[in-house]
Amino acid sequence: MHNGHGGTKTAQQLYEHLARLDSSYTPAACAQYTEWIDEIRALKQERNAVVLAHNYQRPEIFEVADFIGDSLELARQARQVAADVIVFCGVHFMAETAKIVNPERTVLLPDLRAGCSLSASITAEALAERKEALRKVYPDLQVVCYVNTTADVKAESDVCCTSANAVKIVEALDSQHILFVPDENLARYVQTQTRKTILSWEGNCYVHHQITPEQILAVRRNLPHVKILVHPECREDVIQLADAVLSTSAMVRYAKESPAQEFLIVTECGLSDRLLLEVPEKKFYKSCKLCAYMKMITLEGVLASLREMQYEITLPEEVRVGAERSLSRMFELSA
Ligand code: 13P
Ligand code: SF4
Repeated sequence: MHNGHGGTKTAQQLYEHLARLDSSYTPAACAQYTEWIDEIRALKQERNAVVLAHNYQRPEIFEVADFIGDSLELARQARQVAADVIVFCGVHFMAETAKIVNPERTVLLPDLRAGCSLSASITAEALAERKEALRKVYPDLQVVCYVNTTADVKAESDVCCTSANAVKIVEALDSQHILFVPDENLARYVQTQTRKTILSWEGNCYVHHQITPEQILAVRRNLPHVKILVHPECREDVIQLADAVLSTSAMVRYAKESPAQEFLIVTECGLSDRLLLEVPEKKFYKSCKLCAYMKMITLEGVLASLREMQYEITLPEEVRVGAERSLSRMFELSA
C-alpha cells in the first residue's frame, strides 16, 4: 500500500493516533517520535531515499514509510524503486530480496539482528544435498522456495514463492513432484490445495508455530460471529479452524471488504495494529504473538541508518544472479 498517512503529525496528533493501541504511546514518547520523524523525512530528501516497510513493523515506522505491504508487494515495489537508497524496515531476507531485484540501489537494513527463524532453518548446502538425493527418485522434481530464505538458498531453487502466491506457483509448474522449502506448515497447506506431491523441509516460523488450536477455539466458542483469518505459516490444526487463509496484505483487504464487523487476526501482532489504525470502525482481536526480529527495527534505528548509511546489504554477484532467476520466475508465474 502506498502510504496515505500524509504529512507530519504534531506530537499531540501522533499521540491521539497511537494511544489507542497500547499504553507505551505516552505524550512524551510521541513528542520524541515526532522529532525523529521530522529528522528522518529531511534525511530521506537529502539522501534521495525511500522507506519500504513490512506489515508487521511498529506503527510509528509507518509514519515514515513510503510503501507498506506483504513480502510479495514489497518485492514488486523494490523492483520499481528509482531513488538512490532503499531503507528496508523488515527482516534481513526482505532487504536482501530488494537488493537482488534492484542491484543498482543502496539497500540499508537498520538493524542486522533482524533475522528470521524460518530463513535460518535451511542452508544452500543442505538443500543441494536433499535435492540431489530426491532427484534420483523423482527425476521431474522442482524446488519451490519460500521467499523467507537467504539469497544462496534462492539461487539453489527453481522458483520462489510467498504466502500470497504459493499455491499458484506450485500449480503453474510442469512437474508432479515439488520439494517445498523451508516452511513445513505452508508446505502442508499447499498440499491441501493441489493434486501435486509436495515434499517438505523441517522448518517453521517460531511466531506462527506457537499458536495452538485451543487458543482459536476459545474465541470461536465465546464469540462465534468473529471471522477467523489465519496466516498459512500456522500449524495445520490451526489452519483447519480458519474462515480464510491469507497473506498479511490479503488479510487487510479481506477485513476492509468483508461485511463482517469483527475479526480474529491469527498472525504476528503488528498486523492487528495496522488494522486497528486503518479500519477503526471494525473490531480486531489480536493473537498477541510478536516477532522479535521484526521488532528490532525502531524509529531511532531508521534515523541512525540514514545518518550513517548503515547497514548496507551486499551480495556476491553470482549468488545475486542465481537468486534473481528464481525471483523473476516467480514474478512471471504469478503475473
Ligand atoms: P507475508 O508475505 O504474508 O507478509 O508474510 C511474511 C512473513 O514473514 C510472515 O511471517
Ligand atoms: Fe520470520 Fe516468522 Fe518473523 Fe516472519 S514472523 S520474519 S517468518 S520469524
